[in-house]
Amino acid sequence: MIYGHKMKSKVEEITSRLNDLADERNKLGLLGVNVKAKTGSKGKNVQTSLIDKSTVLGREADADSLIAKLLEDEDLNRKVSVMSIVGLGGIGKTTLAKILYNDEKVMAHFELRVWVCVSDEFSVFNISNAIFQAVDGHNQDFASLDLLHVALKEKVANKRFLVVLDDIWNEDHSQWELLKSPFLVGSTGSKIIVTTRKNKVALVMDSAQPHMLKGLSDEIALSLFAYNALNEDNFDEYPSLKVIAKGIIKKCDGLPLALIALGRVLKIKGTNIDEWEELLNSEIWDIEDGGGILPALKLSYYDLPLHLKQLFAYCSFFFQKTTYSTRIN
Ligand SMILES: Nc1ncnc2c1ncn2[C@@H]1O[C@H](COP(=O)(O)OP(=O)(O)OP(=O)(O)O)[C@@H](O)[C@H]1O
Ligand SMILES: [Mg+2]
Repeated sequence: MIYGHKMKSKVEEITSRLNDLADERNKLGLLGVNVKAKTGSKGKNVQTSLIDKSTVLGREADADSLIAKLLEDEDLNRKVSVMSIVGLGGIGKTTLAKILYNDEKVMAHFELRVWVCVSDEFSVFNISNAIFQAVDGHNQDFASLDLLHVALKEKVANKRFLVVLDDIWNEDHSQWELLKSPFLVGSTGSKIIVTTRKNKVALVMDSAQPHMLKGLSDEIALSLFAYNALNEDNFDEYPSLKVIAKGIIKKCDGLPLALIALGRVLKIKGTNIDEWEELLNSEIWDIEDGGGILPALKLSYYDLPLHLKQLFAYCSFFFQKTTYSTRIN
């Protein structure tokens, strides 16, 4: 009997806890969220074409060689050619594409430039629609993909255009064939730049020679780390921290996203050498991620205060949308 009483109060306690959780869920507006669809998301950020070039370190050689290719009118038989930038998450593909897109010579060379952030969903209709709206400057409702493509074809006909498709994951060649069909009437020298983490995507999209983007050199990585951790260009004033910083950047493999994230973690902690050593010696570095970015990001995630951790988790519920921007010369 006593046992039954205890059981009852335990059940009441659990029920009340569940009610509290339900209240919290309502307050956060999590009702009606299609969790299944969203966990399929690759959890990346939407980016526009704008860039502050003064914050980008290194990459001059990559930019120069790609700009030279962009300005070539090489293949007279093929009016539109595809160039791709391939590399790990956070290595700087989008950043490099922004540098190309906003380069003065590139801007002067192309009559029409459009930037589309594609990310998760490769919807031919949505991407084509985003490009049409960017070129046309107005929203139009198209009843079918065919009508949309006819209108888009007219807009790009005989123009030398540059389209950036940022963050592509599509491996279906037929979808790509469909997307590019209105662009085949462009003027010779028109280019499509694709950024992707996957080499296979570049091949599916007929990219002649993928540009494999490597990590930053140690020297540039150290500067980027110093800038984010100390607001300095280098470690000249902090010789003992420099030794630890060198160890940390080695583990970051030249990935700017990792260097920035960890630099910011240490900026908050200040110049206390123990804190820096703790980060360098954390066992999270040992997580296997096939050469990806996970351990470095986990370290910066673990350092967030609890309420920001929750906010971070909450953000993963949001869909990404195809976005665009354009400039017409
Ligand atoms: N050369 C650089 N100098 C300074 N910061 C950089 C550099 N390259 C990239 N970054 C910064 O690193 C972060 C990641 O870069 P970016 O978004 O270009 O990577 P990505 O390769 O496109 O990643 P993803 O595969 O997730 O799309 C951004 O905050 C960007 O500003
Ligand atoms: Mg990117």
